Amino acid sequence: MTGPGAESGPGPQVGPWPETGARPLQEGIGPVQPGLGALTSGTGVAADAGGLEQHFEETIARDRRIEPRDWMPDAYRKTMIRQIAQHAHSEIIGMQPEGNWVTRAPSLRRKAILLAKVQDEAGHGLYLYSAVETLGADRADLTDRLITGRQKYSSIFNYPTLTFADVGVIGWLVDGAAICNQVPLCRSSYGPYARAMIRICKEESFHQRQGYELLMTMMRGTSAQREMVQDATNRWWWPSLMMFGPPDGQSPNTEQSMRWRIKRHTNDDLRQRFVDMTVPQAEALGVTLPDPELRWNAERDHYDFGEIDWSEFKRVIGGNGPCNAQRIAARRAAHEGGAWVREAAAAHAAKVAARAEAAA
Ligand SMILES: [Fe+2]
Ligand SMILES: [Fe+2]
Repeated sequence: MTGPGAESGPGPQVGPWPETGARPLQEGIGPVQPGLGALTSGTGVAADAGGLEQHFEETIARDRRIEPRDWMPDAYRKTMIRQIAQHAHSEIIGMQPEGNWVTRAPSLRRKAILLAKVQDEAGHGLYLYSAVETLGADRADLTDRLITGRQKYSSIFNYPTLTFADVGVIGWLVDGAAICNQVPLCRSSYGPYARAMIRICKEESFHQRQGYELLMTMMRGTSAQREMVQDATNRWWWPSLMMFGPPDGQSPNTEQSMRWRIKRHTNDDLRQRFVDMTVPQAEALGVTLPDPELRWNAERDHYDFGEIDWSEFKRVIGGNGPCNAQRIAARRAAHEGGAWVREAAAAHAAKVAARAEAAA
């Protein structure tokens, strides 16, 4: 990611769009190669616990990927399950705030775009549930954890979407922040997660651009439309900054995750990148970001910004945001309403398997 204003071309410079993970990984990205797995390794590593651990550490140190069949420490597996499951839940719950506007989109074109975007998020969730299953997690159990509040999702989705401008601002800021967070995950040490992130990031990039394009259109419209955009920006700016998680000093998992190369940058680093990327975009759009302390700091070569209200973050993440109960209730209703579909699919699969067995 480069400094502000790096993107050139016709029209106003709106700062660099986030890099979208187009860069292929150097290794460990394709199909699992024979000999990379710990148990089948040709490196002469003894198949005892110490040897396996050493092989794991070396794989990480060489910046190669850990694959599902590889030995990994329990804590690494647990961390990956938690992170990927929370990510999958966020994609699925994230369909709700914008899904709220599908039936009320102002034109057929906007409705088609929004439907496609929300459907993409469903795809991301399913992709990630598949990735987490490679670690031995059970999808039904993960869903149960989500709808009983035992597993979290991104707290950004606990805010309401009050006007159609929110759809644009979510694309611009929320998907924008997600891209900053997720592009480095394309190089995460766990292979299935890293590979899933490559495709997801490409789609998130579309999401951000559609949001920005929608806002540009509204800013060229009536003064009421411009006010809607400003109001939505005011409401989503600070929660977007919270998406990067607590400050580094209060993020207990960061150090271990960076050592395991699950995570490549700290929360504060990513937050700063997002701010640096977004300020020029806000200027080009003609909206004011709701932070009087936001200003370019030539010495640091970054934008300074005001203090985040972490008590709000804690309140929302603790279940007391404006829409927490509503989001979980909707997810639970969808899950319970879909029970007959899962039963029918399982019955069909059993029949097909029985037929195949009888024919064999
Ligand atoms: Fe997504
Ligand atoms: Fe998205």
